Amino acid sequence: MIELRDITFYIQTFGCQMNENDSERIAGLLTSAGAQKIERPEDSRVVIVNTCAVRGKSEEKLFSYLGRLGALKKKHGLVIGLAGCVGQLYREKILHKNSSVDFILGPDNYHRLPEILSRTIRDKPILTSWSRDWNEDERRLFLRESSVSAYVTIMEGCDNFCAYCIVPFTRGREKCRPLRAILQEIQDVARQNYKEIQFLGQNVNSYKDPETGAPFEELLKSADKVEGIEWIRFLTSHPKDFLPGIAEAMAGSRHVCRQLHLPLQSGSTAVLERMKRGYTRDDYLETILLLRSLMPEISLSTDIIVGFPGETEQEFEETLSALEMIGFANIFSFRYSPRPRTAAANFKDDVPFEAKRRRLLEVQNRQKAIQTKIHEGFVGRTIKVLCLGKSKKDERIFSGRSEGHQVVNFTSAKDVIGRFVDVLITACGPYSLRGQGLSPT
Ligand code: SAH
Ligand code: SF4
Ligand code: F3S
Repeated sequence: MIELRDITFYIQTFGCQMNENDSERIAGLLTSAGAQKIERPEDSRVVIVNTCAVRGKSEEKLFSYLGRLGALKKKHGLVIGLAGCVGQLYREKILHKNSSVDFILGPDNYHRLPEILSRTIRDKPILTSWSRDWNEDERRLFLRESSVSAYVTIMEGCDNFCAYCIVPFTRGREKCRPLRAILQEIQDVARQNYKEIQFLGQNVNSYKDPETGAPFEELLKSADKVEGIEWIRFLTSHPKDFLPGIAEAMAGSRHVCRQLHLPLQSGSTAVLERMKRGYTRDDYLETILLLRSLMPEISLSTDIIVGFPGETEQEFEETLSALEMIGFANIFSFRYSPRPRTAAANFKDDVPFEAKRRRLLEVQNRQKAIQTKIHEGFVGRTIKVLCLGKSKKDERIFSGRSEGHQVVNFTSAKDVIGRFVDVLITACGPYSLRGQGLSPT
């Protein structure tokens, strides 16, 4: 039995922004019960590992981390809890593989963490039940990593079952958080002086208030009115659910950023069909046209998978040509890896590893040139930047994001963390802009 009041804990987070936000919630839950969060696992009593299962590589990273943690456990006697998607997926199997893990907590069970820690955990509890509805019984408390930009989870789970994706099996069916609870959280962070919020969900466009049926655009419109929140972003959007009403709500808002992450995955309609994405290349291009007609300056980003089963050289070329046509400000690109329980796990993983590797490199090189060109267009211009902190590499340099979500590193005579700054862009690379802070706006 562990007294929460006396414990120190460490959280290691893998995976997406939703996992980061969940870790902030776990940390809020434990610190509000008197526990103390610390920065090194070797100094802590409890280590929570928040896990990701989305690609084969995510799992490999986790298992090597757990190996290192196992060695620490022998030396320091830590209690190790597995949160997130991997435990949810494998349940008792993971305990067989990893005897150092003491308990497993799936994404729908974080509110039970204090209860688990305060009872005996010798029996290695596995809490991976789902509830069909959103659970907002207790007030959500967060210990957030940033004091400037706050994640706000609005829905969880996914009903899309894209052929390659494990997320519907780790996060369960889609469920949406009540609009009033979301607005309450936005007001809380606005009071704490946050300047930006980022709505999170596996598929935010299909958000629907469970109490009134209000759709995602209504949430955008309500959030737009909250005093103090200057920038609003959201991810992830699904192209098949990105209806014109959302683009119009973005264009008509004062605070929703002209920026959108809209994962294309592949530029080939045939591959998209095999992926079960529910849209064609032309549907996607049409959505982009609509967005750009309403917001010419909009900055777009995407996820790309190369080497999906059956992907021919010609189909791959269509992905390259889509990148050229669209001109994304940023992409996240991955080699396909088969995942258990997904539809594509039954397809033959027939693109050789070497071809996947080359295609990934080609996508990344092509994108590097596109981004460099986009960034060069900023040099000499003054843009508004939200300062999020100091640069990791150099303490004298501040770092922030533009409205288009570009990383901007800049000099400033004053400490401007948490403020909007006009930055004169003087130089750029493919992944960031550099400049000189003029004055806080
Ligand atoms: N809900 C989001 C995020 C899903 S996971 C969405 O629908 O876009 C993030 C990205 O990981 C996906 O967009 C996809 O590009 C990539 N991904 C998911 N499963 C994968 C797999 N089996 N192999 C390679 N990449 C994968
Ligand atoms: Fe996975 Fe597709 Fe759902 Fe995204 S929309 S989480 S890629 S199943
Ligand atoms: Fe990974 Fe789960 Fe997020 S599988 S990407 S942590 S939803």
